[in-house]
Amino acid sequence: MTSFRPIIKEGNPLLRKKSRPVSLPLSPEDRETLQNMLDYLAYASDPNNDERPGVGLAAPQIGINKRLVALYFVEDSDEEGVEPTVETFAFANPTIVSHSVQKAYLTSGEGCLSVDEDRPGYVERYAFVTIEAYDLVSNQMVRLKFRGYRAMVIQHEIDHLEGVLYVDRLNKKDPYQVSEGAIGL
Ligand code: CO
Repeated sequence: MTSFRPIIKEGNPLLRKKSRPVSLPLSPEDRETLQNMLDYLAYASDPNNDERPGVGLAAPQIGINKRLVALYFVEDSDEEGVEPTVETFAFANPTIVSHSVQKAYLTSGEGCLSVDEDRPGYVERYAFVTIEAYDLVSNQMVRLKFRGYRAMVIQHEIDHLEGVLYVDRLNKKDPYQVSEGAIGL
């Protein structure tokens, strides 16, 4: 099998550094990093492999402080016997260009490949975000709207580029406290 760079864990200072933008168009090295990140998420999503599955990965999590993120969404089909669909994204320099006032949170809480023990609580984020990023596949800048679960995931990954982990966003006094009107997803 391919060998992957190990996921670094909470406590490692590289997770706390602000990552730097990459130059565009992407260098062969940065393309390879992004592709490896996607490959890792695909590999880890296979239950035959002994890796924790994840829906997103940011380059600092593999010890590279560059603004690169990969997303790997699996949608189960409603029909029996139909394979789940996979949708992936690989972005360089993603930025949130606009967002809803509406907040939302995952009722199951968040998890992170860099945080081994689950930390209970709700992480409140924007319910909708529009992002701009350079897309690995089309080799151009894209502008995309993410809503619901996907909006939570892309915000979690962009946080990594700022050195922020979801556990930082938990309310210390009451981790289950949310603002009025925030939507539980
Ligand atoms: Co994470």
